[in-house]
Amino acid sequence: MKIVITGAGGQLGKELIQLFKEENYVVFPFTKQQLDITNRTQIKEMIEKIQPDYLINTAAFTQVDLCETDIDQAFLINGIGPYYLACEAKEKKVKFFHISTDYVFDGEKIEPYIEEDSPDPQTIYGKSKLLGEQLALTANESSTIIRTSWLYGHDGKNFVNTIKKLASHSSEIRVVHDQYGCPTYTRDLGIALIYLLTKPHGIYHVTNSGSCSWFEFATEIVTFLNSQTVVIPISTKEYGLKTPRPNYSVLSQKKLNSNGLFLRNWKEGLHEYLKKADDEYGD
Ligand SMILES: NC(=O)c1ccc[n+]([C@@H]2O[C@H](COP(=O)([O-])OP(=O)(O)OC[C@H]3O[C@@H](n4cnc5c(N)ncnc54)[C@H](OP(=O)(O)O)[C@@H]3O)[C@@H](O)[C@H]2O)c1
Repeated sequence: MKIVITGAGGQLGKELIQLFKEENYVVFPFTKQQLDITNRTQIKEMIEKIQPDYLINTAAFTQVDLCETDIDQAFLINGIGPYYLACEAKEKKVKFFHISTDYVFDGEKIEPYIEEDSPDPQTIYGKSKLLGEQLALTANESSTIIRTSWLYGHDGKNFVNTIKKLASHSSEIRVVHDQYGCPTYTRDLGIALIYLLTKPHGIYHVTNSGSCSWFEFATEIVTFLNSQTVVIPISTKEYGLKTPRPNYSVLSQKKLNSNGLFLRNWKEGLHEYLKKADDEYGD
C-alpha cells in the first residue's frame, strides 16, 4: 500500500512516517519545501506520479496567535489546501484523510463533544480549520476528517516539551487550571489513523482517553520527571492570553469505541512518551 503524507516535517507527520514504515506501508513523505498544499499543480503532479492508495494531510498553519494576524495565510493553508488535496484525491480515486482540531468548537460545553455537535470556532485558526473540513467533505464526500487535541510528539513544539525544558531550570511555573481537554500522543493518534484506513469514511474524534486541565497535565509531567519545580495553578484571566482558547474541548471517543478502537488513558501515553524521549532520543 502506498501512502503519501503531507506536512511531513511537522510533529505528527514525523510520527506517521515512522509508524507506517513499521507497518510495512510504502511511505512517500512530503515536507512543506517538497510539496506546498496551496499549490494545486504540485499536488496534481505528485498524485499522478505516485498513484498512492491513501493521502494523509497533516500540513497546517498551527500557530494559533499568528493566525489572528496572518488571516489570508491561515485560510489559504488550513482551508484551501485541504480542498485542493480532497479534489485531486477524488479525481484519482485516492482515499483522503485530513487532520482537524478541537478548536472548531466554542468550548462552552460541559461534557465531551460528539462528532454531530455544531462547530462554532472562536478563533481564526479554528475558523480556517473548519473551512478545511467543510471544503474537503464538499469536494470529496469520501474524505475522512480526524479531529484531535493537545497533540505532542518527539521533536515538536508542544506543551510537554515546553514544560520539560522549564522543569529542568525553573523553581516554579504557572499553568492555567480552568481549561480542560485531552492530551494526545502522536503515536496513539497514528495507531488510530492506521485502524481507520479501512473503516467507513466520515468525521471521527480521536484523542487519548480521559481529560485534564493544563495544570494537571503539567503536574503529571513534572511529577514523572521527579523535578522539584513547583507547578502553580492560575486562571486563564491571570495568564492573559492574546487569543482565546476553548474552556472545555474534550472530544468524545464514543464513535471511535463503537468502531472497535479504544485508545489508552492520556497519562499512560504521556509516561511512554517521556520514557522514550529519555531512552531513545536523549532529550
Ligand atoms: N498541535 C496540536 O496541539 C494540534 C491539536 C489539534 C489538532 N492539530 C492538527 O494536527 C495536525 C498536525 O499538527 P502538528 O502538531 O503536527 O503541526 P506542526 O508540527 O505545526 O506541523 C505542520 C506542518 O505543516 C507544514 N506546513 C505549513 N504550511 C504548509 C503548506 N502550505 N504546505 C505544506 N506543508 C505546510 C509546517 O511547515 P512549517 O513549520 O515550515 O510552516 C509543518 O511542518 C494539523 O492539522 C493540526 O491542525 C494539532
